[in-house]
Amino acid sequence: MAESSSAFPNRPQFSGFMRPCRVEGEACNLEVLGKIPKDIDGVFFRVMPDPQFPPFIEDDPWFNGDGNISAFTIKDGKVSFQQRYVRTEKFVREREAQRSLLGKYRNKFTDAVEFKVRTTANTNIVYFNGQLLALKEDAPPYAMDPITLDTKGLYDFEGQLPSLTFTAHPKFDPETGEMICFGYEARGDGTPDVCYYNVAPDGKFTQIVWLVAPVVAMIHDFAVTENWVVFPIIPQLCDIERMKQGGEHWQWSPDTPLYLGVLPRRGAKGTDVKWFRYKNSFPGHTANAYEDENGNLVIDLGLSEKNVFFWWPDAQGNAPEPSSIHSNLVRFTLDPRSEDLNLDEPRALQSANSEFYRIDDRFATRPYRHCFFDTMDPRLGTDFPRIAPNLGGGYPLYNALGHLDTATGKTEVYFPGNTHMVQEPVFIPRKGSTVEGDGYVVALVNNYDTMSSELHLLDTASFTKATAKILLPVRLRQGLHGSWVEGEDLRCIPQK
Ligand SMILES: [Fe+2]
Repeated sequence: MAESSSAFPNRPQFSGFMRPCRVEGEACNLEVLGKIPKDIDGVFFRVMPDPQFPPFIEDDPWFNGDGNISAFTIKDGKVSFQQRYVRTEKFVREREAQRSLLGKYRNKFTDAVEFKVRTTANTNIVYFNGQLLALKEDAPPYAMDPITLDTKGLYDFEGQLPSLTFTAHPKFDPETGEMICFGYEARGDGTPDVCYYNVAPDGKFTQIVWLVAPVVAMIHDFAVTENWVVFPIIPQLCDIERMKQGGEHWQWSPDTPLYLGVLPRRGAKGTDVKWFRYKNSFPGHTANAYEDENGNLVIDLGLSEKNVFFWWPDAQGNAPEPSSIHSNLVRFTLDPRSEDLNLDEPRALQSANSEFYRIDDRFATRPYRHCFFDTMDPRLGTDFPRIAPNLGGGYPLYNALGHLDTATGKTEVYFPGNTHMVQEPVFIPRKGSTVEGDGYVVALVNNYDTMSSELHLLDTASFTKATAKILLPVRLRQGLHGSWVEGEDLRCIPQK
């Protein structure tokens, strides 16, 4: 095993804005341009992959880094910031060794030591039943203290977790208070088993269903309606023999269809699943799903004809040129009772290159109207020559936030500036309002001119202009997902 250098590899994913931050700490009373409405009271949590040590894999993808959690507390018109790494087994053992020990992304055969759990906990951070959970789809969650960001430890729901894995995209039913989850490769690397489970608001598991996928492939996000769950399979396939030879966990398969696995949400057996099929394509994140008046499932998600994870090419080494990849929000409609498993062409809800779709979560699993997302439109005026030296690489670039009204088909765009890119938007409901989409959107913004991060806050009533820009004294690397948690929910944590 090669000794790891103390410098990060000279690769785009470790350069410019993508240089690892490796900072923990806090900053109170951040600078604010504009005004933060006094009715906002809560915490915006988000997570970024942020390697503590240089990897010994030279071309490690950007999202193999350690999960570093940022928390922005907004109260009384002020914002404070703190950031801490999740103390995963990997993080703790590497700190002891003072070097990286974990090998390739999801390939334990390339590790320098044997880990019990390899997760970096770097993909999503959610709050449920008093637990702040740092998630990555290859392992159980890590529980964090939501106030101090101390790591409490690996969390198996008091021994109830049936599978070795837990999705980074659990869904929350606003009517029932349930968390709906699954794990894939649920009996270990290379297994086709999927385990679906429902967790009651008090943390008790109420449904556990094991099913078998038609291929061992990535199931990154999923969709939930009032009575159904849907598993979109990304045609990135796992081959355990390839992994044993030191190869990648994933390989793009141009011959594999996009599968949508449809299962009744309650009272189902694993054999009840139906695998609907669509032509080879890449399903991205889910915006929402619901049942229409005819009992059909309406599933809104990002879709690309090309392999979005271009760093995992096909068996011949073919991958699309990154700038040629386009994904947009589409709507699949299917009858879950149908015996014909071929899916109709989806309808495009908007045509712009987009991803990281989020909604007003009070309308998750039910008919909805408003969708917020990251979008890339070069015509908006981004000064690419100026920021090119600082961009780094290996991650998707989005230069604006979009707000789609699915009822009218109209999209509003917020352009944060000509030296800026945006991260995932998160919706904050307006205090006292139950109107869908009435509130605020918050998103981290990368400023490539100042090489520091900003938090931009928009009022959805005037989406095209920021209500406040909050300046950070540090640069936060590209992150993945996050959540808004109301202050009152954090102040009444159930006692265990
Ligand atoms: Fe994701």
